[in-house]
Parts: sequence; structure tokens; C-alpha cells
Amino acid sequence: MRDHFEIRDHDAAGRIGRLEVPRAGVTVETPALLPVVNPNVLTIEPRRLAEEFGAEMLITNSYIIRSTDRVRDRVLDRGLHDFLGFDGAIMTDSGSFQLAEYGDIDVTTEEIIEFQRRIGSDVATPVDVPTPPDVDRERAERELETTKRALADAEAAETGDMLVNGPVQGSTFPDLREEAGRHASATDLDVFPVGAMVPLLNSYRYAEVVEAVRAAKRGLDPDAPVHLFGAGHPMMLALAVAAGCDLFDSAAYALMARDGRYLTVSGTEHLEEMEYFPCSCPVCAEHTPAELRETDATEELLAEHNLHVTFEELRRVKAAIRSGNLLQLVDRRARGHPAMLDGLRTLLDHADELERTDPASKDAFFYTSHESARRPEVRRHHDRLSRLAVPDRLLLTESDAPSNHDYGAVWRVKPPFGPFPRALSETYPLTAEVPERVDGAAQVAAAEGVASLAAANPDTAITLGHDDWVPRALDAVPDDVETENLRHLGR
Ligand code: GUN
Ligand code: ZN
Repeated sequence: MRDHFEIRDHDAAGRIGRLEVPRAGVTVETPALLPVVNPNVLTIEPRRLAEEFGAEMLITNSYIIRSTDRVRDRVLDRGLHDFLGFDGAIMTDSGSFQLAEYGDIDVTTEEIIEFQRRIGSDVATPVDVPTPPDVDRERAERELETTKRALADAEAAETGDMLVNGPVQGSTFPDLREEAGRHASATDLDVFPVGAMVPLLNSYRYAEVVEAVRAAKRGLDPDAPVHLFGAGHPMMLALAVAAGCDLFDSAAYALMARDGRYLTVSGTEHLEEMEYFPCSCPVCAEHTPAELRETDATEELLAEHNLHVTFEELRRVKAAIRSGNLLQLVDRRARGHPAMLDGLRTLLDHADELERTDPASKDAFFYTSHESARRPEVRRHHDRLSRLAVPDRLLLTESDAPSNHDYGAVWRVKPPFGPFPRALSETYPLTAEVPERVDGAAQVAAAEGVASLAAANPDTAITLGHDDWVPRALDAVPDDVETENLRHLGR
């Protein structure tokens, strides 16, 4: 891996970074969305993608250019940037997607990398094999070997200052994805797309998308820029960024517009069925749904709306990383669609991995759902409890400290974190905003904190004063911790 990516800020596994693209002479801020431009059909002029939508980078397909005589000659003659009228960074794909769709293409990695260099691509792609989900293991392994050879051919090619993608395949086998990530990371390629996600994305299988991304990331270097190939629906951007993806490409804005579909951050609607627009982008501000249906530019305007909501969500994601509330944004998005909730739950299965890059301090933690109880901050607090000094007799209580007592210390208990010395009350994440009406999941997490403190200090006599915890939470408190229900004590 070469050194073209700098990470500026983290939240969970999400980050704000800068990808230097030397051939284009630009540095692209990530997370970045690359609109997909079909060289034959410019739904929205690339110049407008930059000027009106803020696209710093786009992606187009070198295989389509190469296979279309008229376009090929013009692009070879004028160069890709001039042909498209775009002076930002341009990534090109290789025909792998066509390989996956049609089973065969007439080009090798060596030839297509050379073609991409000749047309002036800034980030080229080898001919990887996008193995679909759910295939048998033998096929996934065999095709991964072919992909590895494509990466080796790309490494051997003459590329000058053009960056080159090292796609990570492995179908729905996490161990193969991890191995593919480790292999790609050890090459001197530059950007690492997680591939063959389109079938999963199209059927909203976000839990498996998250599994594939996390597996690839376990193999990849933590500093590697990661692209989620084919992902660009605004609903899932926050989730994918929180899982560790830096680059996205959206064909959805144009493809969906062709079918009369209107993207939102909680799903896809049909223009045909809409009475009101929930959006204030220039298109939605100027038209009612009925008017938009009746213009003679319905598809183009719908594509513009789709792109506006997508870039708007991307800015919201970046702002959330800066404030440290990205997981709260993912939580909000997870309420829009059950498949997103599966994605979030799967992401939180990997809270220990997210914890490694999660900053120690940020804006207040908001408890907004059961899932908040599984955030990496809660886990980190539990892990750190074992480092704190404790007296022989310790009272942990959800109420104020009693004025007279014979404990060595009285600590606070705050679900979902559990116990902590009062002196830490003003430090992150214990400054958390939690609802008055605490739920069972938060109480269970707090009980796990008590258990972790008790396990680290077997000689301390611990008493827990709790505010009427659910049986499930009390079951998680170790037997040798004495419990008192404060509700019954009238406190
Ligand atoms: N576009 C969407 N998925 C893929 C993939 O897996 N490989 C390549 N090269 N392009 C893609
Ligand atoms: Zn709109």
C-alpha cells in the first residue's frame, strides 16, 4: 500500500480523511460519493455534478468506453477529463461488473489497465471477479485466486502516478473476505473496494454488507482507504461509514430516476404515489409531485433530487463524525427500515473492533434506543472498570449518596454504563443524556458493568442500590453482590 490517504478524524470505525489523487492534482475529502457517469448517457452533465452538487470525484466505466467505437476514439483523442468536462478526480472501472452480469468479457487486466492509463484515468481498476453472495465455498475460493492474479497483474503494470484499486472479494465467507483484505493490503495498490456488494445492497441485506465490510477491514491495514463498490443509497451511508467505508459510488440516483423512484434517507418512494415532497432541495422546492410528474424532464429532475438527498446525507455523516455522534445518526436511520436495524445490530456485534478507533472524548452520548446499550463507549467503560481502585466495602447506587454510611466509598450507577466513582461524573461518556424512563437493555448493560467490577475485585464487598431493575438485569448481577431495590426503600 502506498501512502495517499490521511485520516483526520474518527468516530466508531468511520473517519474523515483525505485521499490524494496525484494524477488529477487534487485531494478528495472522504467519505466521498462518486456519482456513476455512463459515458453514453450523461443524465446530469459532469460539470454540474461538481458545481451544483459538490462532487469532487466521479466514476465511469473504461470497458464501456473501450467497447463503444465512437466514444473510444473521442476519449483517446481528447482524454477522459476533457471528454466528460470534469476536472476533479476520475475513477474508472474495468468491466468486472459486465463480467459478473454476462459471464465473459474480452479484455485482460493488463490490457484494461493500459487502456485506463491511456485515457487519463486517475484511479484504475483490474479485472477482479465479483463472486456473488451465497455461492459454494469452492467457487468463492477459486474466483478469489483469479482476483488475486488480477491484482498481481495490476501491480506489475506500468501505471505512473495513476492510483490503482485492489478489490476485495470472497462472497459471503467472512474468513475469505478477511484473507482477501490481508492479501490486497500487502500489494502496493492504493484503494481497496469491497466488491460484489450490489446483489446484497439491492435486496437490502445490510447485515451481510456489514459482515463483509468488517471482515475485509480485519484483513486490511487500518489506514487503507476503503470503497464500498456499488453503494450509494442515502439510507445506508451512515451505517457503511460507521463500519469503516470511505468511498461510495452511486448509480442509484440515475437508475432509480429512470424507474420513477424518489430516494430518501429512510427508503425509496415512487413518484407516482407521492402527494407531498419531504425535501427542500431545489427540485422539490420548485415542484409538487404532480408537477414533477408532468414536466418533460421528470427523469432528469428526479435524478437531481436523488443526488441532492445523497450528498446532503453525506454532509450530515461528516458533521456527525466531527461531533462524535455518528452512531446516533445510524440509530436514527435504523428506525427507518428493519433491514437497517439488522445492519446496526450486526455492526454492534463488532463493538470491540469499533472501540479501537472510537475517540475517548466527544459530544455527549445520547441514549436513544436499546441499541445504544451496545455502543463501544459502554464496552470501553466496562473494560476500564477493572483499573479503578476500590475499598473493602463499596456501595453502588442509582440514588444520591446516603449522608451516613459505613462504606469505604459510594459510587454512582448510571445505566447503560453501570458503576463509576463520582469524580468521573463530568467525564465522557458518563455525561450521557439518558431518558428518565430507563429500559431493560440499559439496566442489563449496567448490571454487566457491576459484574465486571466485581470480577476484577473478588475481595470487595459490593452492595448495589438499583431503581427497580427488570429480572433480566438482576440475573446479570453476580450472586455475591448484595442488592437493594431503592423503590422499595422509598428512595
Ligand atoms: N462494481 C460493483 N461491484 C463491483 C466489483 O465487485 N468489482 C468491480 N470491478 N466493479 C464493481
Ligand atoms: Zn428534493
